[in-house]
Amino acid sequence: LDPHRQHLLKTFSAVRALSRALAEPLSAEDQQLQSMPDASPTKWHLAHTTWFFETLVLGAHDRGYRVYDDRFGALFNSYYESLGPRHPRPQRGLLSRPTLAEVGQWRRHVDSAMQAFIAGASEAAWSAAAGTIELGLHHEQQHQELLLTDIKHAFSLNALEPSYGPALPNEAAAKPLGAPSWIGVEGGIAKVGHGDDGSFAFDNERPRHPVLLAPHRIATHLVDNAAFLEFIRDGGYRRPALWLSDGWAAVQAHGWQAPAYWRWDGIHGDTPRDARAIDAAEITVFTLHGRRPLDVHEPVCHVSLYEAAAFAEWAGARLPTEFEWEAAAAAAAQTAANASIPHRFDLQHLHPARGLPGRGMQQLFGEVWQWTGSAYAPYPGFRPFTGPASEYNGKFMMNQTVLRGGSCATPPGHLRSTYRNFFPASARWQFSGLRLARDGI
Ligand SMILES: [Fe+2]
Repeated sequence: LDPHRQHLLKTFSAVRALSRALAEPLSAEDQQLQSMPDASPTKWHLAHTTWFFETLVLGAHDRGYRVYDDRFGALFNSYYESLGPRHPRPQRGLLSRPTLAEVGQWRRHVDSAMQAFIAGASEAAWSAAAGTIELGLHHEQQHQELLLTDIKHAFSLNALEPSYGPALPNEAAAKPLGAPSWIGVEGGIAKVGHGDDGSFAFDNERPRHPVLLAPHRIATHLVDNAAFLEFIRDGGYRRPALWLSDGWAAVQAHGWQAPAYWRWDGIHGDTPRDARAIDAAEITVFTLHGRRPLDVHEPVCHVSLYEAAAFAEWAGARLPTEFEWEAAAAAAAQTAANASIPHRFDLQHLHPARGLPGRGMQQLFGEVWQWTGSAYAPYPGFRPFTGPASEYNGKFMMNQTVLRGGSCATPPGHLRSTYRNFFPASARWQFSGLRLARDGI
């Protein structure tokens, strides 16, 4: 087998196995839950990622392949208009059939057909399909992260507060990081985006192109819970002047007083407590490892863009643009100590870790997705993937904001400094946090 096929065969098995492993701690009932329209049941993620390979690879390129059940297409197509009508997204939790066991059988059926195809496809079929197989693997990794954030949201709504993973150790008190330090950047023309080195990237990361950076400073560390608590105690959630108009409306509509999953006594009561009286010691946070005391040294996470922007305003700063972030990550990668990809991915610790003191850019990858000040838009010369995958990214380039870096729930091998994640401004069920930037050196 040629090295490329060998590599994809190995990666295919590893990625598909990780999805099974992620579902393993969950009961069949857990895997059926859909807690909100944005979130999908675990079972649906397992099925949809299988549908992707069956439809876009086997159905399109393997002449001998027989579709496992032709009724599944409409159930597990997410948003591909060119591939026919779909079951409504907010009602994925109603799909008690096929059963979890049947979805498992379908996965095994598609796995063996895929393995046979990768090993045995003609050169012509292989060269037509290989790119889509690789896309399917990165697609499945995206759903692995969603599987975790979606079940976290569902579990948080159950008064039993189920734990996905084992309890986290309570770390000993550590010295605070102190005031954030800043890296000054003179600016000028920087190259951003993914080049043509043959490695995988989504279409939205291309083409590589020059951008103009103004002189600025970027924070070496993520904003931590201690700093965010100061914002809360200073009345941050009650001062409209700090907020974008849509953000202030969201605060009113949802009654936000803190990041998602934070709780203190009376937080959901009719008369909100005076924020100045809230003490760190009385705050607990729901995690994939159960509820635990707030660790003020961890990066703040589960904040919307609105909260990130209001915090930055309060701090006399702003969010970095996605290009400032990427330039900082590219510069950091040149000093070996900071090249933190591959990041940690630990099923025993699906929660952002404490920052450590240090010079230079820290916490770039694998703690929290970092909101940027950049609207999600096509790069100049953007060309979508071809075929059905043309609907993958381009059609969402409106009313979303770019996040960079990747989180503790992002699977290994999935991140790059050019990676562009995107969510609507109000989303906060992802592991989303921020770092700050300021104008001028
Ligand atoms: Fe998908």
